Amino acid sequence: MKQIRYGIIGAGHFGAEMARMIHERTSSALSAVYSVNGVGAARVREELGCETEDTLEGLLAREDVDAVLVASPNVFHPEQAIAAARAKKHIFCEKPLAFTYKDAQNIIREAEKNGVTLMTGFTMRFYDGFAKMKRMIADGCIGEPLAAFASRVGWDEPKPASGWKKDQGISGGHLFHHIHEIDLLLWMAGPVDGVYAAGGNLIHTGPGMGTQDDLILLNFHFAGGAYGSMESSSLHQIPQHCVKINGTKGGLEADMRTSQLTLWRNGQPVEAYPMFDDPESQAYNISYNQKGPAHGSPVNRPPLTFRTTMPKELCVFEKKLLGEPVEPIYEDLFAGASGASATAVVEAALRSVRSQKLEPVEK
Ligand SMILES: NC(=O)c1ccc[n+]([C@@H]2O[C@H](COP(=O)([O-])OP(=O)(O)OC[C@H]3O[C@@H](n4cnc5c(N)ncnc54)[C@H](O)[C@@H]3O)[C@@H](O)[C@H]2O)c1
Repeated sequence: MKQIRYGIIGAGHFGAEMARMIHERTSSALSAVYSVNGVGAARVREELGCETEDTLEGLLAREDVDAVLVASPNVFHPEQAIAAARAKKHIFCEKPLAFTYKDAQNIIREAEKNGVTLMTGFTMRFYDGFAKMKRMIADGCIGEPLAAFASRVGWDEPKPASGWKKDQGISGGHLFHHIHEIDLLLWMAGPVDGVYAAGGNLIHTGPGMGTQDDLILLNFHFAGGAYGSMESSSLHQIPQHCVKINGTKGGLEADMRTSQLTLWRNGQPVEAYPMFDDPESQAYNISYNQKGPAHGSPVNRPPLTFRTTMPKELCVFEKKLLGEPVEPIYEDLFAGASGASATAVVEAALRSVRSQKLEPVEK
């Protein structure tokens, strides 16, 4: 089988883990890593013995790079993905694809024009429980979605910000960290026409504390007629992390804290499944999520559940590159489709926080 040769852009928490994963796989090879200050990249070079590049241009000019993984801070994704497309490199772009629908469309157009594959990194779709939930909904198990809900809330100690993740200008806002849950809602309940959202930065304020919102509450109007809501917060004393879809014939509830997917009918739980098929990941997920949802740190390795999930999403990316069939539920991860839709919902939500009106979602 042809090996896919990768270049990695950004070598922190996520990029370094992707580098390890590519290094370990026989189907892929790690050609070089680039990070803007070289610090993360040098650490990856020492650990894995790969090459590093000092500039993005250097990385993109390499003949031994077939595809790039964009794992830099959020604000840089559009310019770097577009540069990669122009250099004829396939692109796996970490979420979010962009902060605006327009920027997402620019990436999509450039990828199309240059004939390269573009995939958005919505890792949570590859958790066994969420994939099962999607397949059950697609098979008609709960009928037509009527009411959808997602929550990713927990307590983040107000403390001086130590990196870009608390800087609204670079992260785009907390909702872009939690765009996974928006993607899951769109994936399971269909496109959203309009969003009303409220929130702001209520307690994570003061010198050095960062500028990100710490609470956003959203209400959705789905195009298919369903309604939905979501809460995203780092000020909740009572943590919660779940996705629930109620349909005409039943309901599905994925709860990350209990690590269980439950099928409900007529107000009663009737079947339950683990969120992870692999017992080690399942046990880890339960203990990890008891603390509340993670907010990510540049210094630590991602949780085990990510480490066991990331190879599955990379496998789908590589299948596409090799012209092999991809499970239909994952097709919209390509050509920027789901990346752009989720971005459009966040963009409309942030607009709604300011306008205090229901805002249309661009399509
Ligand atoms: N799919 C997921 O579940 C998931 C989880 C965590 C992070 N992410 C995404 O991965 C990306 C990176 O997040 P992280 O947690 O690794 O952050 P991080 O801060 O740990 O790492 C960022 C890396 O990018 C480098 N960098 C900074 N500016 C750069 C630039 N202009 N060009 C190239 N490199 C640059 C830094 O030196 C560092 O090596 C983000 O977009 C984030 O949203 C996705």
